[in-house]
Amino acid sequence: MSDRLFIFDTTLRDGEQVPGCQLNSIEKIQVARALEELGVDVIEAGFPVSSPGDFNSVVEISKAVTWPTICALTRAVEKDIDVAAEALKFAKRGRIHTGIGTSDYHIRHKFNSNQDEILERAIAATKYAKRYVEDIEFYCEDAGRTDNAYLARVVEAVIKAGATVVNIPDTTGYCLPDEYGAKIKYLMEHVDGIHNAIISTHCHNDLGMATANTVQGVLNGARQVEVTINGIGERAGNTSLEEVAMIFRSHKEREIETNINTTKIYGISRTVSSLMNMPVQPNKAIVGRNAFAHSSGIHQDGVLKNRESYEIIDPKDVGIDDSAIVLTARSGRAALKHRLSVLGVELSQEKLDKVYQEFLKLADRKKDINDDDVLMLAGKDRTAMHRIKLDYLQVTSGVGLQSVASVCLDIAGEKFQAAAAGNGPVDAAIKAVKSIIHRTMTIQEFLIQAINKGSDDMGKVHMQVEYDGNNYYGFAANTDIIAASVEAFIDAINKFVK
Ligand code: KIV
Ligand code: ZN
Repeated sequence: MSDRLFIFDTTLRDGEQVPGCQLNSIEKIQVARALEELGVDVIEAGFPVSSPGDFNSVVEISKAVTWPTICALTRAVEKDIDVAAEALKFAKRGRIHTGIGTSDYHIRHKFNSNQDEILERAIAATKYAKRYVEDIEFYCEDAGRTDNAYLARVVEAVIKAGATVVNIPDTTGYCLPDEYGAKIKYLMEHVDGIHNAIISTHCHNDLGMATANTVQGVLNGARQVEVTINGIGERAGNTSLEEVAMIFRSHKEREIETNINTTKIYGISRTVSSLMNMPVQPNKAIVGRNAFAHSSGIHQDGVLKNRESYEIIDPKDVGIDDSAIVLTARSGRAALKHRLSVLGVELSQEKLDKVYQEFLKLADRKKDINDDDVLMLAGKDRTAMHRIKLDYLQVTSGVGLQSVASVCLDIAGEKFQAAAAGNGPVDAAIKAVKSIIHRTMTIQEFLIQAINKGSDDMGKVHMQVEYDGNNYYGFAANTDIIAASVEAFIDAINKFVK
């Protein structure tokens, strides 16, 4: 009989910590509902003591979803635990995720403490959290670099104190797969009472090992994996949910089963990427644009004769159905509504009407409308509340010509115009905007990416703008990439000019 592997999704906590990826409560609820449909067992909804926004998200997500356990993160601090318990009060099944650093790096340098003291704090936090909820997960931060014998002492003690799940994070992404697997095996063999709790993996991808480490953890006894959609997360990211789900679905001989409805993977991947303005790398396993694209003649010939010659996964199994992806100017509201719902977006009739009007305008400029276009249109009205808007933009540029741009901005209903010359049309337009805004700001990152293919495609622009020592993130998509660049710049400016 197969063993059940529990999927703990931390897209809305560890994933959302990525600079520029912050979501508002409505967007978080949209992702949480999509995670529920995907079939995850646990949703880590936030770190309630860290901000009122995180607290609210945990409350609202608890109300919005039914089946998954809702988990709230804390430090091993009573105040954090009190606040997490309060945030979880509407959860049908609530879990407190508390913990402390257990490696020497954390014990000596972060806490200026010693192993015995940390052990006592771990036990105390677990017991304290247990006063509020039955389901307590304990994390041993930096377990990847924690000495196994001490780690086993901590795991044993917190299980005795009532932990139902114990998380073994490779916080810095340092471990190699055999090392991480051996760590889990060691715990399975040396901890008294280990079968009274579930051991969980939580791997970071600093050395590109997150998925490999997670798989080794499972093969050595872990029965929960902490993952994010598209592998988003701090620095190089976390283990990606879709990779783990498809690994165990493809390798049935390992007899590990999840509750994931894999046909929902593609939709949620697109939703998260679009809401967080975080592009998915084209060659990303399972959900990258090229994951199922066979370009070499030999491969194409092989796939046409028998798909399994070169494909180990049927794209339909992850929700990629080519025949359903393309919408055109002749598609009606119902087709658009259906496509959005496949992608996890449900709109009110009023919002659908607005999105449909935008859809028709785009379809006039672009032959085929794909999923990313549709998601972008659905999210477009977030700029409607902006104080500063682009009213018009005109550029002159060409080979052997000096680029010149004229810009008009609408700032709280008043119009401001400026013109500038620059080293290319984007530079000219940005200089014109700067001359209206009068702040010292620098573009730190500027990424233009075609959404799909074809010269009529939309360009997506991500921009990081530094102002007064802080970074602000802007995003826009347009078939005109110069307009998209200026809109992304204005999107970022709206985050600091109130
Ligand atoms: O990476 C990590 O150690 C974490 C813990 C807070 C669980 O995210
Ligand atoms: Zn983490």
